[in-house]
Amino acid sequence: MSKILVVSGHPDYKSSMANRAILDEFHRLVPAADIVYLDAEYPDFNIDVEREQCRLVEADTVVFDFPFWWYSAPSLMHRYFEQVLAHGFAYGSTGTALHGKKVIFSFTAGAPEAAYTPEGYQHYTMEQFIPQFRALSNLCGLDWQEPVCSFGMMLLNPDDKAAAERFYSEAKDHAQRLAAAVAK
Ligand SMILES: Cc1cc2nc3c(=O)[nH]c(=O)nc-3n(C[C@H](O)[C@H](O)[C@H](O)COP(=O)(O)O)c2cc1C
Repeated sequence: MSKILVVSGHPDYKSSMANRAILDEFHRLVPAADIVYLDAEYPDFNIDVEREQCRLVEADTVVFDFPFWWYSAPSLMHRYFEQVLAHGFAYGSTGTALHGKKVIFSFTAGAPEAAYTPEGYQHYTMEQFIPQFRALSNLCGLDWQEPVCSFGMMLLNPDDKAAAERFYSEAKDHAQRLAAAVAK
């Protein structure tokens, strides 16, 4: 059976609403997946590189899950990329450890989808932010899969029942799309 590793790069998973709802539901749908919560394991950002590299080596499919922050991944996820995806391991002439493994970027944006248009307040489409993740994957020889992304994932007033219902249904849908993507 193919081994699925989810790396959660949320810097404060306990306070997360969207990614927590997504990964909790994803875990219910795909109980065999291993989920590593970087903020819980490395609260001081001191990532155990060897341990994380071993986890990657054992996996067939890798999911990087995080909230979209400042048009990219949060610093904890980035630090993981910087340290774990090291030269000689993930790239370079002898860095072939990740070759052929499937990779899925799973992330949530707070702004609505309409904002991610040339006319919208973000001015750029989400597709225009994705090449940074795709380039990282390409360099590491990872087998790029379509990212799973959700928009408008900020529940400003949890007492607003209709908004909360929409939010959690969106999170559930994201988890289902992610489960379908890892099963491909
Ligand atoms: C520091 C910070 C930066 C953010 N940057 C963006 C951004 O660039 N684009 C966007 O759509 N939302 C942005 N947001 C909103 C988050 O994407 C949103 O709160 C998150 O996806 C919700 O997930 P969570 O409940 O798991 O934290 C940002 C939020 C924070 C706190």
